Amino acid sequence: MADKKAIAVLTSGGDAPGMNAAVRSVVRTAIAKGFTVYGIKEGYYGLVNDMFEELTLRSVSDIINRGGTVLRSARCLEFKEEWAMQKGIENCKKRNICGLVVIGGDGSFRGAKDLSERGLPAVGIPATIDNDISASEYSIGFDTAIDTVMEMADRIRDTSSSHLRCSVIEVMGRHAGWLALESGIAVGASAIIVSEVPFNFEEDIVKPFKKHIETGRHSFIVIVAEGVGGSAELAKKIEAATGVESRATILGHVQRGGSPTAKDRIIATKMGHYAVNLLEKGIGKRVVVMRDNAITDLDIFEALSMKKPFDVESYNIAKEVNI
Ligand code: ADP
Ligand code: F6P
Repeated sequence: MADKKAIAVLTSGGDAPGMNAAVRSVVRTAIAKGFTVYGIKEGYYGLVNDMFEELTLRSVSDIINRGGTVLRSARCLEFKEEWAMQKGIENCKKRNICGLVVIGGDGSFRGAKDLSERGLPAVGIPATIDNDISASEYSIGFDTAIDTVMEMADRIRDTSSSHLRCSVIEVMGRHAGWLALESGIAVGASAIIVSEVPFNFEEDIVKPFKKHIETGRHSFIVIVAEGVGGSAELAKKIEAATGVESRATILGHVQRGGSPTAKDRIIATKMGHYAVNLLEKGIGKRVVVMRDNAITDLDIFEALSMKKPFDVESYNIAKEVNI
């Protein structure tokens, strides 16, 4: 029926494991509520360039377990321009789309805010392996990425302990240290270096390593957040200062892939369902967030202005335990 209301969904920014589970939940929930559903390909680029595809219950079968995003993602800087936003809104209006779900990070939510302010209600779902969305305790993809880093670091640990080496492992996170912190705890890293906490080479590496060697430890794992970087140089510096042969590994984009963990699938499913419920009530300019371990929603502008303090307590626990 021409006047049947529709909802659209897109994925934007860096892909994250669990995005497909969120897309699946949006599609199934919306169809169950009587909406027509459109998937928009390649993020805001597809919104502007009319890359819409009607989705059915079966379009999202067998994707809950797949990493990446079947809608593909893209970065589309022209979307910050008025003509592009209006084009995107026009492409939605001609399909009787009354609401849009945007699965991505802070940048994507800025686009969702702009659309909502121009008459197209949009709701954001936090999805980035960086977990750097301040308004939400959790972003889809983070748990899977931690598991990936842990698995890679465990493999590196095998060779480190075989050769009595120090392995410096650089992990993603853009400017945030959440992935470094939590994977560092999970792998028992002798040092976790993040931009949120001051780092002193002598105090944080040389002195403790020499103490560890006295207690019989002869191999080390050091986790460095990409926001700090310099893992290759750090490895050389560690070798020169401690005499421990050192090697650097930059994990790179393996951290973005893989089948999402149960946690990511479950949270993505719940957040997708929640987002459609908001749009069904005509509510836009919101972002679905995890707060106090519960799923709720916040005004996008309020969410974007929030700050998430770094978890220094956990950082210090790692320092005390990983000796
Ligand atoms: P993330 O959503 O993971 O933060 P980006 O920062 O790359 O990823 O943003 C993804 C997309 O969101 C950009 O390519 C652009 O299309 C859109 N976007 C980012 N910032 C803005 C903004 N200030 N206004 C409108 N759209 C934006
Ligand atoms: O935001 C997710 C992320 O993987 C960051 O951790 C990383 O810095 C960035 O994306 C890499 O971006 P690209 O995939 O464009 O190289």
